[in-house]
Amino acid sequence: GQMQYNRALISVCTRFLSGNRAAKKGIQVNIQALLSDKVSQALIAAGASTDCEPQVRQSAKVQFGDYQANGVMAQAKKLGMPPRQLAEKVLENLDLTGIASKVEIAGPGFINIFLDPVFLAAQVEQAVVSERAGVSTIATPETIVIDYSAPNVAKEMHVGHLRSTIIGDAAARTLSFLGHKVIRANHVGDWGTQFGMLIAFLEKQQQENAGEMALADLEGFYREAKKHYDEDEAFAERARGYVVKLQGGDEYCREMWRKLVDITMTQNQITYDRLNVTLTRDDVMGESLYNAMLPGIVADLKAKGLAVESEGATVVFLDEFKNKEGEPMGVIIQKKDGGYLYTTTDIACAKYRYETLHADRVLYYIDSRQHQHLMQAWTIVRKAGYVPESVPLEHHMFGMMLGKDGKPFKTRAGGTVKLADLLDEALERARKLVSEKNPDMPADELNALANAVGIGAVKYADLSKNRTTDYVFDWDNMLAFEGNTAPYMQYAYTRVLSVFRKAGIDEQSITAPVVIGNERESVLAARLLQLEETLAVVVRDGTPHVMCAYLYDVAGLFSAFYEHCPILSAEQPVRDSRLQLARLTAKVLKIGLDTLGIETVERM
Ligand code: ARG
Repeated sequence: GQMQYNRALISVCTRFLSGNRAAKKGIQVNIQALLSDKVSQALIAAGASTDCEPQVRQSAKVQFGDYQANGVMAQAKKLGMPPRQLAEKVLENLDLTGIASKVEIAGPGFINIFLDPVFLAAQVEQAVVSERAGVSTIATPETIVIDYSAPNVAKEMHVGHLRSTIIGDAAARTLSFLGHKVIRANHVGDWGTQFGMLIAFLEKQQQENAGEMALADLEGFYREAKKHYDEDEAFAERARGYVVKLQGGDEYCREMWRKLVDITMTQNQITYDRLNVTLTRDDVMGESLYNAMLPGIVADLKAKGLAVESEGATVVFLDEFKNKEGEPMGVIIQKKDGGYLYTTTDIACAKYRYETLHADRVLYYIDSRQHQHLMQAWTIVRKAGYVPESVPLEHHMFGMMLGKDGKPFKTRAGGTVKLADLLDEALERARKLVSEKNPDMPADELNALANAVGIGAVKYADLSKNRTTDYVFDWDNMLAFEGNTAPYMQYAYTRVLSVFRKAGIDEQSITAPVVIGNERESVLAARLLQLEETLAVVVRDGTPHVMCAYLYDVAGLFSAFYEHCPILSAEQPVRDSRLQLARLTAKVLKIGLDTLGIETVERM
């Protein structure tokens, strides 16, 4: 503490003397990128190969500085040199003037980098006046297709689709914030033989109810249709006829089909809007979109010698996958009766996303149980050369949502939980919670607050956990005002704003320079400047929980700073400098929560 404080004082004096603030303007806020560049250069100057990896990371502990470079180890091995010796040579060539106040070798050959408070201050000054908290837009934007949500027609969206919708939307928001061209692809299940039965049942309903739509309860509609199909032979006959007609492009059947899709998506849109999810009707790119491509794909796979006839069906045998007998697995792409399969559609879909949408990268937010399905489809896609290896197809899978008993999340009666009911309950619980805390709040504001907290809690609970594991849905945990939850984060944000409100200060009006005067300030500042680095990890791995963890950390550091470094009662220029840190904190929290699709409020 004291040592850093002295260091800061010396730096402040140096800056005062040199007075070259303008010279610092050009510095970029992505400190990790800046340091990586510098360490790379030093490594190369010390004899490492030009493609060496500097491996600059945020330090895990304060005593290791702000960043640590671990790249020396691998290079030393390559050069047959003791790591420490190489590290020393790297230090000789590492020029971090104006960036770091201390650089040291630690352990077998790690390089600890302590950022210069003057550098930090200059970065904060830049970030705080930028609308994006200093985050730059990507230099080479890509076209990124994100496959998410994907509910099924004439079926209610259920909790299984919730995770895909929420996590996928956070990825979409983050990528577009960074400047990528994002195409939201809602791969709705709008095709298949079940549509004969659904059309026949819709027809029956329309006749009986004089055109009144009985689709309000989608789940019930589907169940009833299935019942008729199983029990009424004449109905089943009609249904089978409709499948053929629909596939043949019959106008009446198309019309009925369109109605089914329309009603389903109108209902789903209500859920998307309630969830503050960015999907619209224009994003629907359902399975039916690829119909016309399927015969051509099957013919092409045959021509390429990839697909063969087997017991009347068309099959692709893949060496990469083995069946129970240890033989290459056969993936059916066309059934005996001529029908196509889910896999055939996903083959066409990947091809379309590359050829027609010009995707540079495609992300699929789908349940982990569909992993094998995707891998098979994509193995065929690559073999057929439909999508070059340079365009990644990524399965961003996630586990199941479990109840508190550790079993799949179900209603008390054992049925699937409907999303709409779940959100109703979230609102009800949140309303109770926030009205207790804010007895005097006007009704309108209370409604908005309950909505932000309730919906936010459901979303954040999902977003904050590593998506690859199953997660336990627990109302009490997600609505707690402590811990890494939406209410805590939303509250933390309002607390920062209240500093300005209390003092009657318009945050825009502060133009004071920033002086990093102690360790609490420097730790907070360094963390605030890591927003871009965090965003980069989120988009690389499709892991919004990394953003949640970051924001939670920022909120905690701000709390500690607020507690130990009085803001409003401090003397100038310290007071305004600290207000600048508070202002940047608010900005970072707001932007971060925005990229997650979590709403903020002004007070709570
Ligand atoms: N509709 C499917 C389901 O409910 C998910 C579709 C995912 N996307 C895809 N390209 N297969 O399970």
